[in-house]
Amino acid sequence: MIEIKNIKKSFGDKIIIDDISAVMEAGKCNLIIGASGSGKTVLTKCMVGLFHPDSGEILYSGESFGAMDDEHRKMLRQQIGMLFQGSALFDSMTVEQNVMFPLEMFSRDNYKTRKKRVDEVLARVELKDAHKKFPAEISGGMKKRVGIARSIVLNPKYLFCDEPNSGLDPQTSLVIDKLIKELTNEFNTTTIVVTHDMNSVMEIGDHIVYLYQGKKEWEGSNKEIIFSKSDKLNKFIFASEFLQDAKDMRMLEMKGKIDNDRNMEDLLNSPGSLMDNLEK
Ligand SMILES: Nc1ncnc2c1ncn2[C@@H]1O[C@H](COP(=O)(O)OP(=O)(O)O)[C@@H](O)[C@H]1O
Ligand SMILES: [Mg+2]
Repeated sequence: MIEIKNIKKSFGDKIIIDDISAVMEAGKCNLIIGASGSGKTVLTKCMVGLFHPDSGEILYSGESFGAMDDEHRKMLRQQIGMLFQGSALFDSMTVEQNVMFPLEMFSRDNYKTRKKRVDEVLARVELKDAHKKFPAEISGGMKKRVGIARSIVLNPKYLFCDEPNSGLDPQTSLVIDKLIKELTNEFNTTTIVVTHDMNSVMEIGDHIVYLYQGKKEWEGSNKEIIFSKSDKLNKFIFASEFLQDAKDMRMLEMKGKIDNDRNMEDLLNSPGSLMDNLEK
């Protein structure tokens, strides 16, 4: 489990993270969601130590990241896998060399063992014939897979993925989401996915933290999220009118105010929104 306690971070006089406390549950897919610029990446970077928070604490399994000695922190860092926004592959290295990189940095295994591990993770993300290719020669979805392979090559206990779906088509997004979810279950990692993709939220979000302008506005599960009472969150989730109507119908159905057999088209085509009609 990772506990975020009263984290604050400013750049200049601009407050970016405003006193956020939240929990990332062990062995689950934890999602940090929010509009662009709401502070998701900055918060994530505070969690992995790429930014120093101005105040507050990050606890990994109860131990404060900031208060650890260097040796201890180095050990923890090796347990953290990170898929950066945009994959951040080394363009001048082949797929295989990219995935090998963390092993060369941190493992004392010989080449043969390292190579075996690289083959293993590339097979796990279903990339079998891309070993010798360069990032520029493969598709966006494949790049993400390489990024994921690289982030899991050291068997991390904690896996961070910043916008794993950005730039991907909806189908490929789903495949990548499912892969992240499977890996989380398979290796019991504590996974943190930063996203603004509602499909991901519903598909893989065991535990969700919603940020609004640097503050935590809501925290809960994907079962609870569509019933949240936060206006800001609802505006974020139901950004399209289509979804808003779908939600209204679901609510009415649950309250027993409409039944399933009734022609929904009538309701949708009637003037004003569903809720307005109901108020009358
Ligand atoms: N290194 C930085 N220096 C100054 N401002 C930054 C820096 N990184 C991010 N910001 C600002 O912090 C805010 C939140 O950014 P970010 O966490 O990247 O948002 P997002 O939720 O889209 O990931 C933005 O207004 C951004 O301009
Ligand atoms: Mg970001």
